[in-house]
Amino acid sequence: MKMSLENIQVGMCVGQDLYTENGQLITPNNTVVTEELLARLKKFKINCVEMTHDSLDDYIFDIKSTAGFKSFQSECTEAKESLTTSLDSILQDNPDDVHIDMIKNLSTLLYENNKKNINLIDMVYSMHEYSDAVYTHSVNVGMIASHLGHWLGLPEEEIKLLVTCGLFHDIGKLLIPKEILEKPDKLTPAEYRIMQSHTSKGFELLDQFPDIDDRVKKVALLHHERCDGTGYPMHFKGDQLDRFSKIIAIADAYEAMTSERSYREPICPFTVVSYFEKEGLHKFETKYVLKFLAKILNSYLHTKILLSNGKEATVIMINRNVKSRPLVKVDDGDFIDLSVNPEIDIVKMVN
Ligand SMILES: [Fe+2]
Repeated sequence: MKMSLENIQVGMCVGQDLYTENGQLITPNNTVVTEELLARLKKFKINCVEMTHDSLDDYIFDIKSTAGFKSFQSECTEAKESLTTSLDSILQDNPDDVHIDMIKNLSTLLYENNKKNINLIDMVYSMHEYSDAVYTHSVNVGMIASHLGHWLGLPEEEIKLLVTCGLFHDIGKLLIPKEILEKPDKLTPAEYRIMQSHTSKGFELLDQFPDIDDRVKKVALLHHERCDGTGYPMHFKGDQLDRFSKIIAIADAYEAMTSERSYREPICPFTVVSYFEKEGLHKFETKYVLKFLAKILNSYLHTKILLSNGKEATVIMINRNVKSRPLVKVDDGDFIDLSVNPEIDIVKMVN
């Protein structure tokens, strides 16, 4: 809707490309309004602007009166259940009970946040309403990241913070138009740039709340950065990145590949590990990736897989040097070391 400049507030979202009289771009569509932008609009005498929503309040926070919000607390409990189920695959290495308790208490964590700062739970709820896929992904990333934090021996305060980092790392996607966010086909370069802006938009959104930990805000901005400088939006390199962003980057990439998408089946974990082995060791923090892969793959010991030769087999031993190609025992009794049999691949896990 069109709004006059005096009614536009910091945190609202511009719904059009804005140009000066000379045709110079002031700000692109979907920009979150800041004090600086308001000053520029005033400077260029822009009196009326198309906004995507009446206000950010309407969009994100003024939802507590909806029936949906009232049922959210029970959905939180359901989320906790599904979370526990989705984690079963990486919980098979018997982590200690304290950690499982922490994971199972995600909803408690949300309620605690709710008491301290209503905005956090509002934002999680908004994410749930806007896109179930983003919500599920974010919850899973928080879980995976907290596992990785645990495996890396981080203090409990940091492990808990990783859950929050995971929950909010993609919050900027609430400000990406749905037709782009949910487009089943490949994005055009222009659409891809808008999609990438979820990092800076997420940071700007979270940055309006002084109560939110700066490390959570940083992760929203930096979780697509890569240690070799090939990421975005800042093209930072390894030593410029904090450990929370590095951990969420690994969890984010792993979750995105192993979960089912509307346009593809989940990718087999061994294939994902092979991707990390080929590309990930320099793109991600090497010591974090190595620990992650070792722990993840140990959880697949003794599970059934289908080989590309059509035979079913059981994973017997993870090879230290080529973790994606284990020693397997075929159902007819033969052992095959996939690290020295490159012609045979693992096709999928068998339930
Ligand atoms: Fe992201």
